[in-house]
Amino acid sequence: MAAVLAPSILSADFARLGADIKDAEAGGAALVHVDVMDGHFVPNLTVGPAVTAAVRKVTQLPVDCHLMIEEPDRYIEEFVKAGADMVSVHVEVARHLDRTVRAIRDLGAKAGVVLNPATPLRMLEDILPRADYVLLMSVNPGFGGQKLIPAVLDKAKALREWIDREGLDTRIEIDGGVTVENLERVARTGVDMIVSGAAIFSSGDVRGTTQKMVRLLAAIAEEDSNV
Ligand code: DX5
Ligand code: ZN
Repeated sequence: MAAVLAPSILSADFARLGADIKDAEAGGAALVHVDVMDGHFVPNLTVGPAVTAAVRKVTQLPVDCHLMIEEPDRYIEEFVKAGADMVSVHVEVARHLDRTVRAIRDLGAKAGVVLNPATPLRMLEDILPRADYVLLMSVNPGFGGQKLIPAVLDKAKALREWIDREGLDTRIEIDGGVTVENLERVARTGVDMIVSGAAIFSSGDVRGTTQKMVRLLAAIAEEDSNV
């Protein structure tokens, strides 16, 4: 099964956000990744439920909201009502993670738990069977266009092995610093969903770059299935 591509709109042209999203969709994107930042959990401020609702109106793709905010519990319902199909929260700030995951699921969305690059996998020990997906940060959150932290690829491989060993259907998403150049290395870790922002939206050819990445992922999956 090929990993799917989730373009992050953080690096999109906000003056033509709808067009950028449609170009990514035309290129074969499977999800739209919306990076929500509050200027407290991360040193940047971005978008909220209003932009999520605007994204919802221009695409049929699942809307994947990544909450990099201090108090996720306060806003989960608003994001789901705005159209989020997937909501991920950072384990570093979720004081009652089990309750938060249940709340996301009770609202009808998929629940994701996020680990920063230095947060160990063992933080997932109790929540893994109840999360729909794990989002592994391969950059320190807050900004697009950063370099991927290679150590996170080993973390992704270890998580893949853990999920497969336990027979869980938890999906793995990786987020940060993914480019056309390192995409194969990232895909071969066994992740299911790959976020990419600047590589796509700062490329000058959103549709073409998305298409190139999606085709590469399909070729890798084809190759693996022939092994
Ligand atoms: C960073 C965000 C990532 C980032 C990915 O805090 O969570 O989604 O926007 O963008 P690139 O691919 O540019 O690192
Ligand atoms: Zn993100």
